[in-house]
Amino acid sequence: MILSIESSCDDSSIAITEIETKKLLFHKKISQEAEHACYGGVVPELASRLHAVALPEILQETKAYFPQLKAIAVTNQPGLGVTLLEGIAMAKTLAVLLEIPLISVHHLKAHIYSLFIEKESIIPLLVLLISGGHTQIIRVEHFEKMEIMATSMDDSVGESFDKCAKMMGLGYPGGPIIEALAREGDEDRFDFPVPLRNSPLIAFSLSGLKNAVRLQVEKSSVSNGGTLTPKDQRDIAASFQKAVKLHLLQKSKKIFAKEKIRDFAIVGGASANLYIREAYEILCRQYGKRMHTAPLKYCSDNAAMVGRYAIEAYKRKDFVDPDTIDIISTKKQQSGTLL
Ligand code: KG4
Ligand code: ZN
Repeated sequence: MILSIESSCDDSSIAITEIETKKLLFHKKISQEAEHACYGGVVPELASRLHAVALPEILQETKAYFPQLKAIAVTNQPGLGVTLLEGIAMAKTLAVLLEIPLISVHHLKAHIYSLFIEKESIIPLLVLLISGGHTQIIRVEHFEKMEIMATSMDDSVGESFDKCAKMMGLGYPGGPIIEALAREGDEDRFDFPVPLRNSPLIAFSLSGLKNAVRLQVEKSSVSNGGTLTPKDQRDIAASFQKAVKLHLLQKSKKIFAKEKIRDFAIVGGASANLYIREAYEILCRQYGKRMHTAPLKYCSDNAAMVGRYAIEAYKRKDFVDPDTIDIISTKKQQSGTLL
């Protein structure tokens, strides 16, 4: 069995996965959303302190599995430095005390493996990763070769939902709030610009759209005595979500048109968005692709996906030294093979 730990942002999570059967034997996650909600986003120092309490609490429940553990896996990049370190400290300690190997896991690769929890992997695969930190299209050729084909030049999809909700005073995380509001709204009322619509670039950009939403929020508030009406909130949410969808689809089409890989997946926290999922289901049918998604409970950060990735790493004996494992890089990787 492998014990896996996730603490790259605001979710403290630990899982136990059986190596041979891929069975998820234990999985628990303590989310900090409520504690960060009043700030409209994650406060790293607060997140780190909450991990320091939550991770040992979850670990207590896994003690019965300790004698059967063959390795410890932990997310070591990318993420918030101070929160990654909480998981890494625990993982190092366990690996040294139990005298078993340590596996470092790239968070985005773990999101890709969220598709394969308790399942065989489907590779080669094209992946749209939309999370709070990243927006990328990744070509997964095999376990060691995951190429970034397109990436966001500024904000990520999840982040843009979070900021949009914050601007309207709606709380955090913004994704589910905006999606729910948008369901009741008129998506054609506001003509927000679809980012990079006339650009040949195969890349993403969400900051201009965010700014257009900000201007509309200001304008609509002024005309209503300083606050938005519920109808304005719903229509802004729907029009914003539509522009995000059109942007993602437009750039994805360019890749679909020349890419032979038939299997396509959407992963990451924002892949829980059913409006975006439905749009991609139609696109996949048009381009003859098979679409895959993870169960909704595994879209956002969790240790089950870290454990599933770690099974593959364990089979390859892809271990790291507890003395040298650290946060490899906190800088966003813009191109090339996922490191
Ligand atoms: O993958 P994740 O849990 O964390 C990162 O790796 O960043 O993604 C969290 C992000 C948040 O920005 C959240 O607002 C967004 O995923 N999200 C959504 C939805 N559910 C979560 N975005 C759009 N629609 C949703 N339904
Ligand atoms: Zn994530």
